[in-house]
Amino acid sequence: MQTKEEKYAAILPAVRSLMSGEDDVIARMANLAALLHYEFGFWWTGFYRVCGKDSEKTELVLGPFQGPLACTRIGFGKGVCGTAWAENRTVVVPDVEKFPGHIACSSESRSEIVVPVRQCGRITAVLDIDSRELGTFDATDAEWLEKIVGYLPL
Ligand code: SME
Repeated sequence: MQTKEEKYAAILPAVRSLMSGEDDVIARMANLAALLHYEFGFWWTGFYRVCGKDSEKTELVLGPFQGPLACTRIGFGKGVCGTAWAENRTVVVPDVEKFPGHIACSSESRSEIVVPVRQCGRITAVLDIDSRELGTFDATDAEWLEKIVGYLPL
């Protein structure tokens, strides 16, 4: 059986190839979400994009994803996604019930990771992945997913 590292390393050529063949960021996000979702069998895999011109109205808006229906808008500092955005860092949540303010889009979700997508140093989106099992994500996922989303911005 492949280790997590081996699985991430194995999909890296596909990530590079998907990103080199398309310059529309939504299309890139859509295929990247599908690739991760089906390779790893996650419960929910997708993006929230930073949207809005007025800084006071800026919020995360649902982007391309795979999985059950999800909430469409998340405020700065709200939930795991808004926390990763506000604190400018990857957030790993081994047990969503122990994360204050976690937004439960699906009651099936047990653990989660949110990774910022940066363009020229600014966060433009976050990658959110949910698992139906506790403790699915750790520093290895954080490291690989940060590397993978690094291919997204043009
Ligand atoms: N759980 C997330 C909300 C998004 S859904 O998981 C798809 C959060 O707390 O930000």
